Amino acid sequence: MGKFVIEGGRQLYGEIKIQGAKNAVLPLFAAAVLTEEKIVLKNVPHLADVENMLKILNTLGVETKFEKDTVQLCASVMRSDTIPCSLAKELRSSVFLLGSVLGRIKRARVAYPGGCDIGLRPIDIHIKGLRDLGVKVEEKEGFILCEGSECKGGNVCLDYPSVGATENVILASVLGNNKTIVQNAAREPEITELVRFLNTMGAKISGEGSSVLRIEGVEKLHGAEFTVMPDRIVFGTYLLSLCLTGGEITFLYAKEGDVGALLSKLDKNSCKICREHGKINVIVKERAKNCESVTTQPYPGFPTDLQAPYMTYAAVSEGTCILTENIFENRFRHVPELQKTGANIVVRDRVAIISGVPYLTGAEVTARDLRGGASLVLAGLCARGITVVQDIYHIDRGYENMEETLSKVGARIARL
Ligand code: EPZ
Repeated sequence: MGKFVIEGGRQLYGEIKIQGAKNAVLPLFAAAVLTEEKIVLKNVPHLADVENMLKILNTLGVETKFEKDTVQLCASVMRSDTIPCSLAKELRSSVFLLGSVLGRIKRARVAYPGGCDIGLRPIDIHIKGLRDLGVKVEEKEGFILCEGSECKGGNVCLDYPSVGATENVILASVLGNNKTIVQNAAREPEITELVRFLNTMGAKISGEGSSVLRIEGVEKLHGAEFTVMPDRIVFGTYLLSLCLTGGEITFLYAKEGDVGALLSKLDKNSCKICREHGKINVIVKERAKNCESVTTQPYPGFPTDLQAPYMTYAAVSEGTCILTENIFENRFRHVPELQKTGANIVVRDRVAIISGVPYLTGAEVTARDLRGGASLVLAGLCARGITVVQDIYHIDRGYENMEETLSKVGARIARL
């Protein structure tokens, strides 16, 4: 299943270009289903989740081509309304294909995506949102069957600002002659990106970035060419790796505004940030003196996807950090692995109390999920000695060539 072998203790110097955002690309792929014309997406990262989503689109009849960092998609003919069970289980984000297949051919079937490494991941908010639009939704024999011929738009109020449910409701509402208002919509930058992309295709959506979206259905959407935003979680992860090792990195194609909640927590005395001509230069000369406590929240709060990498940063900062995971119920699976490297962490339900230690020690650890796996690599980068991270397929779901990116700035990391 692949492993990383990391020799810790090396400072990082050089440049990192931030890859395209996984959690933006996936809904943009789904949006391509809404037009018969060609879509061209640039800055697409080579990731397992991206490859799996393309496979699902192919089963629906979408032609796709992936060359270098550019993906072409053409849904001129839809061959099926069913998202295959095997692939749907492989990739939770297939669930928002529901909205776009519905939008295109007024019916859709998807296998229940089920839980994953970090929690049960129910889709009740998705289903209620679609029903509020007038979609008939039936749950039968492990499948979700949607019939949207009487979809009438209207007012959708999400019980929680779910990212995926917001994306599904948008994708199901952009075609047709209905007006839809989505209240308590998610405000993540990836939602703003999806709205920008759909508007480039001729949609009429406003309110992006706020919790109220207004969608005026249009008859058709046309093809478009679009460059995907940088991945804010990947940026935050590599920024934290620098905070752990010390050194100086210039981040290219990174958007500081998307990681504001993280930047506000970093120790200003040890982490110096300056911006110049679209680049973000960061110098870290010393160990963080203190590590502010964090509670994960929907955007613009502290992102749950940076909880695990931040925990590693807290593990070797001075003082005590209280980390509360408010979004997913099972997102501390990296804790026992970090404890193997000497991290001092106590967990009570959704709260982790981290007491900083002077250093971590290399150990054999196992990735249990995507972001938890990244936190173990960060531990290896700053630990004394050798760290082996097993089951790195989890990490490959979201970080493109992580070992190459880190080696280029001086880390000693190899994939075996
Ligand atoms: C998206 O997941 C991201 N995935 C996640 O990133 C991210 O952690 C999450 O948003 C929160 O920001 C993609 O975009 C592909 P939610 P999503 O619906 O849409 C509960 C990563 O590491 N909920 O906002 O599934 C849910 O169980 C991944 O890149 C319901 O109860 O997130 C969770 O506790 C991990 N019912 C909370 O809401 C529902 O119908 C947030 O989920 C939907 C969600």
